[in-house]
Amino acid sequence: MDKILILDFGAQYTQLIARRVRELNVLSLVENFDFPYEKVMELNPRGIILSGGPSSVYQPGAPLPDKRVLESGIPVLGICYGLQIVAHLLGGEVDRSTHQEFGKALLIVDDSSDLLAGVGDVTKVWMSHADKVTILPPGFKPIAHTDNSPVAALSSKQKKIFGVQFHPEVVHTAKGKEILANFVFKVCGCTGDWQPGNFISEKVAEIREMVGTEKVICAMSGGVDSAVAAVLIQRAIGNQLHVVHIDNGLMRKDESRKVVDYFKTNFKMNLHHVDATETFLRKLRGVADPEKKRKIIGNTFIEVFEKVAHEIKGVQFLAQGTLYPDVIESQSHKGPSAKIKTHHNVGGLPEVMKLQLIEPFRLLFKDEVRMVGRELGISDDVIGRHPFPGPGLAVRVLGEITPEKLEILREADDIFIDEIRKYGIYGSIWQAFAVLLPVQSVGVMGDERTYEYTIALRAVTSEDGMTADWAQVPFELLARVSSRIINEVRGVNRVVYDISSKPPATIEWE
Ligand code: XMP
Repeated sequence: MDKILILDFGAQYTQLIARRVRELNVLSLVENFDFPYEKVMELNPRGIILSGGPSSVYQPGAPLPDKRVLESGIPVLGICYGLQIVAHLLGGEVDRSTHQEFGKALLIVDDSSDLLAGVGDVTKVWMSHADKVTILPPGFKPIAHTDNSPVAALSSKQKKIFGVQFHPEVVHTAKGKEILANFVFKVCGCTGDWQPGNFISEKVAEIREMVGTEKVICAMSGGVDSAVAAVLIQRAIGNQLHVVHIDNGLMRKDESRKVVDYFKTNFKMNLHHVDATETFLRKLRGVADPEKKRKIIGNTFIEVFEKVAHEIKGVQFLAQGTLYPDVIESQSHKGPSAKIKTHHNVGGLPEVMKLQLIEPFRLLFKDEVRMVGRELGISDDVIGRHPFPGPGLAVRVLGEITPEKLEILREADDIFIDEIRKYGIYGSIWQAFAVLLPVQSVGVMGDERTYEYTIALRAVTSEDGMTADWAQVPFELLARVSSRIINEVRGVNRVVYDISSKPPATIEWE
């Protein structure tokens, strides 16, 4: 099978590169920048991509690959910092530029050699750099420039080594996909016969080998990620997998019951259903701070889950449906990925339980997991479900949580989703939900003054949850939802629609 190896120099976009390559139906693997030369040769990739990164090549301790990787004859594409590595290691020079180039730029193609074939003379690209190549390494020539970068792309046809200063992996680079395709197909000669189905058989084999005859436990919230993880692992090891669904009392209307019914009926899952509503709500009483809520929910989840795991006895592995965006959004190290929110499904559990982790989707994005789920025969209803945060409605009842407020939110949320589905736009929205604001305002109902809560409606479009736009849903839909909520949900007299994008807002309100 053709493979492209991606060496990671700490860029936020590394997995996006991997994903773009997979979209071309070519298997991509990400390894750390210091992946040993011998292992590279053993892996025998068709091509190597050097990712971007926050460092400068001329600084002491800057991450650099083994130079032999560049001399091995395997085609190389350096992206951003990766281009600077190529220049630096092969005898060129990289200097700090007087000004940064950040955002959109116009790329002028000087030589549409293999890499830039079909891109046109001028095209929009996305730049994010301060350093630039000032002297080319011997045997290289510039193939494109921008106003700020005389060497925005370089190549050595003979060595099959290329570099681009811009980011072909992001959507803002108009012909990014074509450029990566040129590298993967024209330069590396890949055939493009990898399918998401291959991912399933590879993972099934990997999980079988890893688990042997041991038991695996997996928490299934009912969300797409954990559901697909559970079905995939069940396919690998059958009833050695114990799936636990914990109702934390923070789920949406009827959610727990539906989840359990669906997977028991359709997949004959070894499913333990635990109702821990009372425990969670007791611990959350009086707590208003979002991060405290997350901590309490995370810890209580661990307690309840540990108890169940203990009862099952002899469990050695813990499976989780962690996705790549969960991983980077929860990292507080490595420059650009600052800690925004504690996404509790990433931390805590494994350390406490001393179990080995199985995270088959750690390098995938949500829509890739959905593809895998479809292949596994999970219904579109489940696969197409909007993401739902681990702490559930706790981060959507702003401030202190009470059973009454949860009830109000459940009803309002159910109406919103119901109307969105009826309108036929559920699938084109990344996530839609209601939020109960801790704000009461004056209204009039009949001849009576009311003083009740406000529901905020949030609907966003997004590719991966890392950035998002508010969805421009039709006014007539909003009108119907608002009228239904105010008429049908006791305790609400005002409905507003959230028109903020991420960034600077986040998708959830807490
Ligand atoms: P934000 O609000 O950070 O959300 O823009 C990005 C995506 O992550 C989900 N989210 C969470 N998921 N635990 C989770 O498992 C959490 O604590 C959490 N907080 C936010 C959110 O619903 C959106 O899809």
